[in-house]
Amino acid sequence: MLSREDNALLTQVGPGTEMGALFRRHWLPFMLADELVAEAPPKRVRLLGECLVAFRDSRGRAGLLGEHCPHRRASLAFGRNEAGGLRCVYHGWKFDVAGRCLDMPSEPPGSGFRDRVRAEAYPVTERAGLLWAYLGPAEKRAELPEFEWLGLPAAQRYASRWVQDCNYAQALEGEIDEAHVSFLQRRVDAAGLPVSALTGAHFQEDRAPRYTVHETPYGLACGARRLVQGDEYLWRINLFLMPCFTLIPPADDPNSRLFRAWVPQDDEHTSVLCVNWRTDRPVSERELELWQRGEVAHRKLAESAGKITDRTLEHLGTSDKPVVAFRQRLLGTARLLAEGVEPQTPYDPDCYRVRAHASLVSRDERDFIEQEEIRRGMLAP
Ligand code: FES
Repeated sequence: MLSREDNALLTQVGPGTEMGALFRRHWLPFMLADELVAEAPPKRVRLLGECLVAFRDSRGRAGLLGEHCPHRRASLAFGRNEAGGLRCVYHGWKFDVAGRCLDMPSEPPGSGFRDRVRAEAYPVTERAGLLWAYLGPAEKRAELPEFEWLGLPAAQRYASRWVQDCNYAQALEGEIDEAHVSFLQRRVDAAGLPVSALTGAHFQEDRAPRYTVHETPYGLACGARRLVQGDEYLWRINLFLMPCFTLIPPADDPNSRLFRAWVPQDDEHTSVLCVNWRTDRPVSERELELWQRGEVAHRKLAESAGKITDRTLEHLGTSDKPVVAFRQRLLGTARLLAEGVEPQTPYDPDCYRVRAHASLVSRDERDFIEQEEIRRGMLAP
């Protein structure tokens, strides 16, 4: 459980909040690149509690502006996207993707007023089919995290997005919570016995999985070890990467992988950007179909706990180690930042070059982090 104060610190990400400041130190994906079409009408975007509009100009550049026009605050969501900028339909002021005012038809020629006015604008970059934004202070501008899938050919990855009606933290906690795998994602054989999706081997269900969590430069490596038939252990290692990313190991195909970004739209809504990719070959039609079915059960269960779950009422057990560690990592880092200690992850893009991992390991009592084969498997090339 958390105190009421810690729950508020964890879940509130708007301007002026401590967690909001930590998120604003990182580049965050907020849309699929193909959601924006050149010269098409702008789209409203909610990101970290801010009201914004996104558009793609006639040169193909993506822009992210504050929703309200700096003149008299009309919504730029009604703006006309024309010839290199977005024109407010109220009095015609026109802004480019950097917020510069290109035209001000309501002022006399040569007044110079146009050069003294800027729309609020955030940097946007496009990588691997996603649009990424940086909402932090310009002098603290971060690097884009170097996930391995950013460099893959487009045919080997598939990006999707959905909105979850709850706070980002509880949505993400469902992803690193390996304990639910034996139940929510239970697979059974013809005789109705639980089996490993990775191997088809039977779990020894009389023994609960063992959970271990390690602090890492990028965030957390969360391991769960299950005893399966034949005296082998199945290790599954989920990764949490600051501030709101996860990597999950493959279920039944070691070359098929999954990244998710749990990006707060505001405190009660989360934009989930999902990238499935293959390390070995282009994605097939069949795989696309399976991936597109999504994770409806996960989504509904996270939402069923309320928009912002009351963590003062929880009863956490040993299987909740990853969830506890996730909260402590975020809370601790946000508190340090509030005291003036900068987080490391925004300025260490290579620390994100890692992989989630799943494998069968012969029976012994060593922790996953002590096992060389697993450690090697957790490094992305
Ligand atoms: S309110 Fe936008 S131009 Fe006047």
